[in-house]
Amino acid sequence: MGLVRTGVALDSDLLKRFDRLIRAEGYDNRSEAFRDIIRDRLNEAGLQAGDAFVVGTVTLIYDHHWRLLPDKLMELQHKYHEHIISTVHSHLDHDMCLEVVVVKGRINRVHELASRLIGLKGVQHGKLVMSSPDTVSPHRHAHQ
Ligand code: NI
Repeated sequence: MGLVRTGVALDSDLLKRFDRLIRAEGYDNRSEAFRDIIRDRLNEAGLQAGDAFVVGTVTLIYDHHWRLLPDKLMELQHKYHEHIISTVHSHLDHDMCLEVVVVKGRINRVHELASRLIGLKGVQHGKLVMSSPDTVSPHRHAHQ
């Protein structure tokens, strides 16, 4: 991968605010911050395409005493097994569970799976986070 230098004209106030922000976020230099922002934008754009290949996580917080919820979660995950890479389950306390499901596949199916998991009665909080590796890195080859 070749590096290309490019210049960007910015007004000084905007640049000052940007430098403050990235310093607070722990960046050593602007270049890496710019690269991350560009990747993030490309990722967002890639996620707009319905057939994009994505990887991601579905984070779920729930009370495992909720009627049949653990069974339903298990059933759904088996139904979508080809889209699930792994699942991490953590018992937060006597009642509450944290489950992180690592997912992959076409965005439509991943969305569908996530909505069904998050939408189950008894799930108190759920969030899907996705990334589209095809868009972020040009060096990937075709996925399923
Ligand atoms: Ni648990």
